[in-house]
Amino acid sequence: MNTTLPLPETMIPGQPWSALAPMQDVTTLPFMRLLGHYGPPDLLFTEYFRVHGHSSLESHIVDSIALHDTGRPVFAQLIGESLPDLKRTVGAIHAANLPVAGIDLNMGCPAPKVYRKNVGGGLLRDPAAVDRILGCLREAVRGRFTVKMRIGFEDDRNFKTILKLIEKHQVDLLSLHARTVKEAYRSAVHYEYIQQAASTLTIPVLANGNVTSLKKGLWVLENTGAAGLMIGRSCIRNPWIFRQLREHYAQEPIFQPTLADVREYIERLFIATLQPGRAERFHINHLKKFLNFIGLGVDLEGKFLHEARRVSTKAELDIVCDRHLIKDGRAQQAFADEPLKGLVARPNCETAQGCSL
Ligand SMILES: Cc1cc2nc3c(=O)[nH]c(=O)nc-3n(C[C@H](O)[C@H](O)[C@H](O)COP(=O)(O)O)c2cc1C
Repeated sequence: MNTTLPLPETMIPGQPWSALAPMQDVTTLPFMRLLGHYGPPDLLFTEYFRVHGHSSLESHIVDSIALHDTGRPVFAQLIGESLPDLKRTVGAIHAANLPVAGIDLNMGCPAPKVYRKNVGGGLLRDPAAVDRILGCLREAVRGRFTVKMRIGFEDDRNFKTILKLIEKHQVDLLSLHARTVKEAYRSAVHYEYIQQAASTLTIPVLANGNVTSLKKGLWVLENTGAAGLMIGRSCIRNPWIFRQLREHYAQEPIFQPTLADVREYIERLFIATLQPGRAERFHINHLKKFLNFIGLGVDLEGKFLHEARRVSTKAELDIVCDRHLIKDGRAQQAFADEPLKGLVARPNCETAQGCSL
């Protein structure tokens, strides 16, 4: 008997789900709140809680669950492989009465220091371990238990077996980033695996990987039959993307951000990420995680990106933002729908080698 729980309803009943992809150091409390301001996704996922012998619930992730104020359900993500510690962590989340819509297991992280410990994407090499872990979590989690994974470690040899395990353990939702672990973040996305998962499984499948715009999202939904879209990097660049999806389904005019809107977004990001006592240059460095993606929509030559990467004070950032987003008639120019070709966000967080995950 299938006893999986339905997902929380979408904001517009009947439309495909939209979800914020979990992103370490990005899907933090301030960013979730900003998405609440610009138009939240239907579902949110936290950064991962690390689970090991002496782990405890990291307070900044707990805060993102308890205080995000978007009005939308949030799933807490875990990364780990030790059964007693996974069980203990789920117990701690339940005991703290954290308002989670479910608990999600990370089976996709491509950082070598992670997968070498056989956690994250490393698990995809070992279906027997996946079987044990899914069984343990299914038993421990009260409510929805969800999985986010890639199509395999270096190839798809375990893909079908793992889909069967997802079914066997009555996982409630699969989010599928359709690349292998070895492909990290920049290869083509193999959407045919999402189509395969969506047509094989009875539970909802969220399509993940390079959903860069409303138009691309609609293409992905049509070509995969997925129940919804999970969006990561492109909602850092375009925090209006979830609103645009809703507007499309409600047959309303689609909001088209201008460079002035982007200027305001950067200002809001700056304010939202202020932390008492943090030196200005560290704050600006943190903002660069976001600016790297925002810059992909600003100018074809990548001048904004180039200059934004070199600022170390708020005053310097303001000058760069005003030069590229406001002055000489730029304020009213449209912000590009798609990342501009030839620009690269941030090699050191998007390659498996330099990945800080
Ligand atoms: C900076 C960054 C941090 C990430 N952190 C996580 C994470 O904590 N857990 C996870 O499952 N995936 C993580 N991912 C992967 C994303 O959730 C997503 O699967 C991937 O970026 C592909 O989706 P996209 O093309 O929409 O960005 C991270 C990705 C990035 C770029």
